[in-house]
Amino acid sequence: MSLAKATAEEIKTRAARYPSKQSAIIPALWAVQHEQGYVTKEAMGEIAKILGLPPSLIEATASFYSMFLTRPEGRHDVVICINAPCMLRGADEMTAYLGQQLGVRDGQTTKDGAITWHSTIECLGACGGAPMMQVDHQFEENLTPERIDAIIQKLRTDPAPHGARPPKAATVASVPAEKVARPRAKRTQA
Ligand code: FES
Repeated sequence: MSLAKATAEEIKTRAARYPSKQSAIIPALWAVQHEQGYVTKEAMGEIAKILGLPPSLIEATASFYSMFLTRPEGRHDVVICINAPCMLRGADEMTAYLGQQLGVRDGQTTKDGAITWHSTIECLGACGGAPMMQVDHQFEENLTPERIDAIIQKLRTDPAPHGARPPKAATVASVPAEKVARPRAKRTQA
């Protein structure tokens, strides 16, 4: 699917603000994800063309950061932290409970298309609220089975499309990097 004219224009506008075109890669990826819900290889090629950069550079950036999706996923993205501080506060039990309630394995999407969940992520920097998970870029802390039930119920009925959740490219610069830019282990294919 080709990029919408407005998205291509937005990428050009963002690129013009930076002395180096490389600095516009992340805003460009956001713009595409906001429009299409995820970033295909074809779209990465279009970004490369607009920015005048090698496609491999766009692909390397998209695969490095956890917030960029390269395949369709559920409307909501749930990431549960299993690093040591969270683990010491019951993350393993919460992860098992979450998987059981969603009925799909880590990395998969629920049958109703509402939620994709995974635990292949490093510490999210909210250890004080362990055990925790990130739901559509929002932290949910001090998890209990009851809290997980309430969160899942809300997400299942929330119709917001996946692509509408990430901040728009025009606003992402104001989001602290530690909140959105997390290197991750590769997700397993469903
Ligand atoms: Fe889970 Fe830090 S270990 S947020």
